[in-house]
Amino acid sequence: MDESITLNTDYWDSRYKQNQIGWDIGAPSRPIQEFVEQLANKSIKILIPGAGNAYEAEYLLQKGFQNITVVDFAPTLCTVLKEKFRGKQEIKIVEADFFKIRETFDLIIEQTFFCALNPILRSDYVAKMTELLAPKGKLTGLLFNCTFENSPPFGGNVTEYQSLFEKHFKHVQFTPCLNSIEPRLGKEVWFEAKNELG
Ligand SMILES: C[S@@+](CC[C@H](N)C(=O)[O-])C[C@H]1O[C@@H](n2cnc3c(N)ncnc32)[C@H](O)[C@@H]1O
Repeated sequence: MDESITLNTDYWDSRYKQNQIGWDIGAPSRPIQEFVEQLANKSIKILIPGAGNAYEAEYLLQKGFQNITVVDFAPTLCTVLKEKFRGKQEIKIVEADFFKIRETFDLIIEQTFFCALNPILRSDYVAKMTELLAPKGKLTGLLFNCTFENSPPFGGNVTEYQSLFEKHFKHVQFTPCLNSIEPRLGKEVWFEAKNELG
């Protein structure tokens, strides 16, 4: 990473203002779509942190989920999201720093948020996730299982993630992601972290 870069609100906001959003795949990602399709209870409270253009939230809405919270701290993006989801009671757009959220959720969906944070914050991310989850709640989604020449995104590997998540969660599972979108094939893992079985 260029050491002069601080990954703060201004940094991310300027990426949206300049339309430098190479991470944005323009649609809900296939692994998350397939995960959502097998969820039976549509009333669970779901959080998508660092949601960007929130295609996954849109997909959840289409599938009938009723309690979706999208958090991102980039103001330009949040203005667009508030307009896009205007009148949709099922989706709450929260313009805030993830680390300052004070609510609990049944399900938290991760996609390219963890890798967008400075790696020194990884332990804080995992600790915060335990705070944000309801007792039977679950954090799940995608993590990159590779390294990058230019960051963000910041990569990593399963061994590293395993020890990080196991410090805070009783049950952690990583599985190879076989249904990634083409450019990410072989570069990501699906994971699930929770404290209570069920
Ligand atoms: C790489 S983008 C990923 C966006 C989206 N998840 C996607 O896959 O398209 C990272 C997002 O996280 C947001 N972000 C970074 N740090 C954040 C923080 N501490 N609190 C809330 N949002 C944050 C940025 O504004 C940006 O929208």
